[in-house]
Amino acid sequence: MPGKDELIAAIDIGTTKVSTLIGRLKKNNVVEIKGYGLSKSRGIKKGLVIDINEVTKSILDSVELAEKSSNLFIDNAYIGVTGKHIAFENNYNELTIASPNKIVRKIDVDRLISLTNRINLPSQYEVIHTIIKQFVADGEKGIEDPIGLATERLGVELLIIFGSSSIMRNIINCVKSANLEIEDIIIEALASSEAVLSNEEKDSGVILLDIGGGTTDVAVYKNKKMVFTYCLPVGGDLITNDISIGLNIPFAKAEEIKKRFANVDYNFPDLLNKASISEMNINTNKTTLSIQLYNIVSSRIKEMMQIIKDKIDEYGILNSIPCGLVITGGSSQTKGILKMSSAVFNMPSRIGICIDVEGPSEVVNNPIFSTGVGILKYAFQVDNFEDIDNINNKSRNNLSFGERFRMFVNKILKGEK
Ligand SMILES: Nc1ncnc2c1ncn2[C@@H]1O[C@H](COP(=O)(O)OP(=O)(O)OP(=O)(O)O)[C@@H](O)[C@H]1O
Ligand SMILES: [Mg+2]
Repeated sequence: MPGKDELIAAIDIGTTKVSTLIGRLKKNNVVEIKGYGLSKSRGIKKGLVIDINEVTKSILDSVELAEKSSNLFIDNAYIGVTGKHIAFENNYNELTIASPNKIVRKIDVDRLISLTNRINLPSQYEVIHTIIKQFVADGEKGIEDPIGLATERLGVELLIIFGSSSIMRNIINCVKSANLEIEDIIIEALASSEAVLSNEEKDSGVILLDIGGGTTDVAVYKNKKMVFTYCLPVGGDLITNDISIGLNIPFAKAEEIKKRFANVDYNFPDLLNKASISEMNINTNKTTLSIQLYNIVSSRIKEMMQIIKDKIDEYGILNSIPCGLVITGGSSQTKGILKMSSAVFNMPSRIGICIDVEGPSEVVNNPIFSTGVGILKYAFQVDNFEDIDNINNKSRNNLSFGERFRMFVNKILKGEK
């Protein structure tokens, strides 16, 4: 874990852009962005590498810009990963406390966690994070730190997040080809949550949606911990594609029209009447275009939200989310999106902008940077982010996640996997 004042770099390799942020942790636990780079993403689709050379070039462009803007040199970075290959499992285990007075010692906790942190994964998967959801002492749930408590039996519930080794290997190879060492990998749903959710929201229950270009990352928090994650391999690019086909115009023009005029609130003020549509060179009148855009964009976003709602509902946690939805990522800028999300989920919604971060306003106020900022926050372990790494780091008997992960990276680089 980097210390205060140490500079670190985060690279978010998205479907539409690659962003590199260089930041440091200030004394008040605020992350300060010292430099950033933004390049157009090439060779990535729905979170997956489809052209290693193109991705490497996009990373190099983004890193170079971040270096220029900060006058700093980057040789290692934390990176984000997403895609529908990411999945999770809950694991629960208990043990009997052996000490004569039944007081839980650190050794008991370490033993219980290493016992529970084992799932039978097919060989093509690798664990990315293990999150401690809660401890249970003699059936009493919701214990955060059991050391020192007296109990006959101690249980722990873990959320183990894993992903496809080969898909991660491709991302790792792109970063390596850009001459960068990887410090750690973090799933993007977790990163964006770290950036935009408040502690109160995580404690009470909240749903995070990061709607990007090619994916929508979902995380659900309850009792301070992530309890669910999902990646829908669909984002704003599909909406642009729908507009391009529906209006019979090129993708770039559809993208411009979407950003300027699309509005999924049916009662929107008539934006198109105020704008000059002649400059768009489209063969239709304003009213028709308004209705067509509304129909195309709202039906796609509604469909995406309904799929996500059903996924969360299948897991049985939709009724315990008092803080509702927090929406971030580039597509959160779609006009009227909050009204639509509140209607689909029947919950309050807000836009998620990074909290406890300082730096250029074009970064800190722009939802496309939520993942990058969250990767930095994760790296600095702001808010005492609790990953199994923290616990295992205290116990030299086990390899920490960071150590295991670096072994995984090294194996890949040596071609052993
Ligand atoms: N004003 C706007 N209105 C609607 N959509 C917008 C607006 N600005 C940006 N977008 C959309 O945001 C998307 C890009 O968001 P973002 O940068 O978060 O994606 P990404 O991180 O590159 O992709 P992903 O996370 O899916 O891999 C694009 O589809 C773009 O059209
Ligand atoms: Mg993204």
